[in-house]
Amino acid sequence: MSDVARLVVLISGSGSNLQAILDACQQGSLPAQVVAVISNKAEAYGLQRANNAAVPSVIFPVHKNQTRAEYDRQLARIVSAFKPDWVILAGWMRLLTNTFLSRFPNHVINLHPALPGAFPGTHSIERAYKAWQSEKIPHTGVMVHLVPDEGVDNGPLLNMRIVHMRDEDTLDTFEERMHEAEHELLVETINSLIVHGLERTMHNAKSNSFRS
Ligand code: GRF
Repeated sequence: MSDVARLVVLISGSGSNLQAILDACQQGSLPAQVVAVISNKAEAYGLQRANNAAVPSVIFPVHKNQTRAEYDRQLARIVSAFKPDWVILAGWMRLLTNTFLSRFPNHVINLHPALPGAFPGTHSIERAYKAWQSEKIPHTGVMVHLVPDEGVDNGPLLNMRIVHMRDEDTLDTFEERMHEAEHELLVETINSLIVHGLERTMHNAKSNSFRS
């Protein structure tokens, strides 16, 4: 297992994207190993998924009166103990400050269910669906980007995919297709980072986004 990339995955909820990573590792389509799952929520179902896959997990909730910097300093300590090659934010619903990010420069990546520059923050899928209904956007998409600083969902692009709305879509069916796209895109992007490296992954993302 020493020649595979070590992934630490941060989650806050269901962990379906974590599951996609675990499955790809297990099937051998991703040369990686999830060495730890960390959740800021004790009730996150993703913890169960980690347990099912025999992956160590850590529940690290925010304590009362804890400053953001203090939380991030301790979180960085926990994460670095697992010696990650990549830190994956897969449904991690908490902003990270430079106190954390400066410990893993160019090694933290985030998944976001929208296209670059569109619908940053929470409820992006719902907001895109509403915007499409009122004919404000023709489509939306999903992206994976690097997290170099405290900007919200707007770091350098690593990969993206357009997702088209369909006339027959309800919010539920549309959301389901968005999640499927996320699962594929996240695994594909991590694979590219491991196999091709950061520079080439960023370069490919740039050329692809010009084409779409
Ligand atoms: C995903 O849509 C992710 O992009 C967003 O939160 C959701 C997490 O889903 N930030 P899951 O926990 O991986 O199922």
